[in-house]
Amino acid sequence: MQGLQILVLLGLLGYCFGAGGSVGGGGGGGSDIEVVETEGVKRLIPEKPLLLSCNQTHGDNVSWKRNGELIVDSGRIKVHKQNSSLYFTSAEKGDAANYTCMPSQQTISVVYLKLNKKLPSSTTVLENDKMSLNCQVEGIPTPTVHWLRDGVAVEEAINSTRLELQDNDSVKDGKLRIEPVLKSDKGNYVCVINQYSLVLNTTTEVKVKDIYAALWPFLGIVAEVIVLCIIIFIYEKRRIKQEDYDDSDTDQDANEQKSPTDDKEAEVRQRK
Ligand SMILES: *[C@@H]1O[C@H](CO)[C@@H](O)[C@H](O)[C@H]1NC(C)=O
Ligand SMILES: *[C@@H]1O[C@H](CO)[C@@H](O)[C@H](O)[C@H]1NC(C)=O
Ligand SMILES: *[C@@H]1O[C@H](CO)[C@@H](O)[C@H](O)[C@H]1NC(C)=O
Ligand SMILES: *[C@@H]1O[C@H](CO)[C@@H](O)[C@H](O)[C@H]1NC(C)=O
Ligand SMILES: *[C@@H]1O[C@H](CO)[C@@H](O)[C@H](O)[C@H]1NC(C)=O
Ligand SMILES: *[C@@H]1O[C@H](CO)[C@@H](O)[C@H](O)[C@H]1NC(C)=O
Ligand SMILES: *[C@@H]1O[C@H](CO)[C@@H](O)[C@H](O)[C@H]1NC(C)=O
Repeated sequence: MQGLQILVLLGLLGYCFGAGGSVGGGGGGGSDIEVVETEGVKRLIPEKPLLLSCNQTHGDNVSWKRNGELIVDSGRIKVHKQNSSLYFTSAEKGDAANYTCMPSQQTISVVYLKLNKKLPSSTTVLENDKMSLNCQVEGIPTPTVHWLRDGVAVEEAINSTRLELQDNDSVKDGKLRIEPVLKSDKGNYVCVINQYSLVLNTTTEVKVKDIYAALWPFLGIVAEVIVLCIIIFIYEKRRIKQEDYDDSDTDQDANEQKSPTDDKEAEVRQRK
């Protein structure tokens, strides 16, 4: 019975180690992020209306230029004379450009910016293994990306050939790779995205697991098997011993049973 209890306990331990030893990123989650627009930069959302306002007070004479070229009213793009605004009924990625309201010459940079995927809230990597973080962002014009670890530029935090920054599509330094990963590489990794004056970021907490962490579930199972074998071995040994003892007992009984009759017979014979 005690053996069974130990086995159950070991099973639970193994299960716990097994669960603890699992490796992988958690979280993930939604894609789009609220970007706070700043004066002079406006973010377009494809297929949504877009309104560019001009501070010009009397708009009778207003005109708008796109990258220096005069815009003519079309079905999709309208100049609202009454308030000097420029209106897109349904914006397209290609509308990303600099728009200038004339004659005030107030310029608004219209950008397309999309974070395709946030970094997972946490990323677990094994020590000595490799790690790869991907800042999946796209935009027109192409946004710039830089990485921080606990607030420090990664190039300074990890000044080593272990760190490699690669482009992801047109985004320079969009991919961060570290190989091999050291325990000291743990921390909050932030991908900071810039497009003109727009800033957004996505963060992941990198946890570096002991190299033996992956071994624990395996060792747990091995230990379980060994203990199981020992228990079975001991039980078997005891059982065999017991049987031997029982066997010798019955043998003796048989002898004893035999001998009295023999003795009796002998006595009988002697009496005769
Ligand atoms: C437009 O007007 C707002 C307030 O009405 C002001 O805060 C802003 O600075 C003006 N922008 C320009 C480019 O003149
Ligand atoms: C309209 O603009 C032109 C030059 O761009 C200027 O000559 C004219 O006076 C303006 N008219 C009004 C009403 O502002
Ligand atoms: C300008 O006028 C148009 C049409 O009247 C209106 O739809 C739009 O909301 C106005 N924009 C601003 C910034 O007032
Ligand atoms: C648009 O304006 C930004 C400044 O807001 C400037 O850096 C950029 O070169 C301009 N782009 C074009 C195509 O004119
Ligand atoms: C970046 O890389 C990922 C996969 O590594 C890919 O799915 C994505 O389309 C790439 N580009 C952008 C702009 O996210
Ligand atoms: C990285 O280290 C080298 C020497 O080991 C040094 O010359 C270089 O300036 C360092 N770079 C940064 C970004 O700290
Ligand atoms: C990331 O964005 C959040 C929310 O906009 C902001 O509070 C935080 O300071 C930013 N972090 C970095 C490192 O830029």
